[in-house]
Amino acid sequence: MTKRATKGIKKCSSALYLIHFERLDVIMKNTSLLDRRRFLNRFALSSAFFTTAGAFAEQLTLTPRQTPGPFFPSKMPLDTDNDLLILNDNFTPAAGEVVHLSGRVLDKKGNPLRNSVVELWQVDANGIYLHPRGGDRNKLDKNFQGYGRFLTGSTGEYYFRTIKPVPYPGRTPHFHLAVKTKGRDKFNSQCYIKGDPRNERDFIFKGLRDPKLKEAVSVDFKRIAGTKTGEEAGRFDVVLGVTPEG
Ligand SMILES: [Fe+2]
Repeated sequence: MTKRATKGIKKCSSALYLIHFERLDVIMKNTSLLDRRRFLNRFALSSAFFTTAGAFAEQLTLTPRQTPGPFFPSKMPLDTDNDLLILNDNFTPAAGEVVHLSGRVLDKKGNPLRNSVVELWQVDANGIYLHPRGGDRNKLDKNFQGYGRFLTGSTGEYYFRTIKPVPYPGRTPHFHLAVKTKGRDKFNSQCYIKGDPRNERDFIFKGLRDPKLKEAVSVDFKRIAGTKTGEEAGRFDVVLGVTPEG
């Protein structure tokens, strides 16, 4: 997946991006499983936002580092692509509310960071991780991938189809993301569902203190028009405190 995903990424307008979301449900219903998986890759490519390098340099807030926690998968799933809803060629999708999480990996001046590996991991619809200590193994949703990767192209864009995380004891719902760029240590962070009242009681979210940082990791999920099951889409840009690529 990742190799194909890096080829031919095109710039396009945000209007086109919205059209793609609106047509998503119709297209998904009328495609075979294999086509659907191909589509997900194409969708990721065509939904790339145009870059804003330099234009908003002063307004960019660096994404805060946050703990990866103890539940990074102890063993990789058999499938590690950017569609966490479907494992390999299974026909049964994971349980949960479908969401589309995308964004860009940027340096502090807003330049896209290509060839960044973005990793996403999270709990399933029952609050269970792909980790032996990550909740009751009997409740694990065996259809949920739990972890995925995406290699960014020239726009720095990444894309995942997954489920909305649920809370587990002691934590508000959150996604874990890690970004590996050339020559730098892995950057770990988390993002949250904007407006969830549990965020302000969460010790990691609260620990960010600065409202700007809290805003930077809060994803404003919006319902995608035309999806009968109420799929939502949200954007999370990862802004790294690095200088532009040489
Ligand atoms: Fe977690």
